Amino acid sequence: MGKGQGFGKVILFNEHFVVYGLPAIASAIGARTTALVEPEAGSGVELKDERPESPGYKAEKLEQQRESLNLMLKFMNIDTQHHKYRITLGGDLLAASGVGASAASCAAIARAFSDELNLNYSDEKVNEIAFEGEKGYHGTPSGIDNTAATYGGLIWYRREGSSQLMERMRLRGPVEIVMGNTGKVADTKAVVGGVKERKEKDPEKYERLFKNADQLARDARKYLDAFDLEKVGVCMNENHTLLQEIGVSSPELDALVGVARDAGALGAKLTGTGRGGYMVALTPGQDLQDRVAEEIGRKGFQALSTTVGT
Ligand code: MEV
Repeated sequence: MGKGQGFGKVILFNEHFVVYGLPAIASAIGARTTALVEPEAGSGVELKDERPESPGYKAEKLEQQRESLNLMLKFMNIDTQHHKYRITLGGDLLAASGVGASAASCAAIARAFSDELNLNYSDEKVNEIAFEGEKGYHGTPSGIDNTAATYGGLIWYRREGSSQLMERMRLRGPVEIVMGNTGKVADTKAVVGGVKERKEKDPEKYERLFKNADQLARDARKYLDAFDLEKVGVCMNENHTLLQEIGVSSPELDALVGVARDAGALGAKLTGTGRGGYMVALTPGQDLQDRVAEEIGRKGFQALSTTVGT
């Protein structure tokens, strides 16, 4: 039996902008997706999805998951005509929008096949395969999700043509965050497509927003390096405003951001695709983290407390 895993992630800065080559910052979170690959008699693949889920996520993503799996099997040259494999997904990462669930499963599946078939895939190869798999979910992925899912840690990421440029970042110590789940499943392909349409309709407005987003990521990196969390929080708030302006927030996400800020978070923004999925709030220290998580729970949303930067 082959085993593999992929990290869940949170995008701290510049989702969507990253699709157009702007820099972004992401971190692994302390939850993972695991994959097992077992050979069976016959031909084809059977996928058993035992991940915990945000209600409705798996059913809504089923078709994209199939497409993603087929893309990866082809890319890896796995012979499913003469062999049959059963893939079982598990782990503690919630299958939900905004936490890199699709990318984590792609990295886990690539690693499990490598383990089962002694393919000795390097992380770089796993990342390439996961990127291929992400196309099934995203259409035109920037590559940030599969990179975070493959390598873990805190990363500065930029796409340049077909190259995926990643630099590792280190924080002085782990920092507590709270993620709040809207419970709504987001369709990344559709939301990314919407940004593209609006950008084409109003290039001047988008040029201004993109310039601001570019500067913001650079400022945020400087403040993260200096461990100036107050300023990082301000940057997160500004990033949320930019994301609202490109039309990817939602009333639920704005409400969650408001709840987190009112409860004392240093900053809060939507994370990932938007229009559903998760919000992330910067809440250094256990007390603040607990307070924000409690408030989110009190408002009827599900909170995930974790850390970034390790
Ligand atoms: C989704 O987690 C992140 C997006 O920027 C899409 C991508 O980067 O491929 C919305």
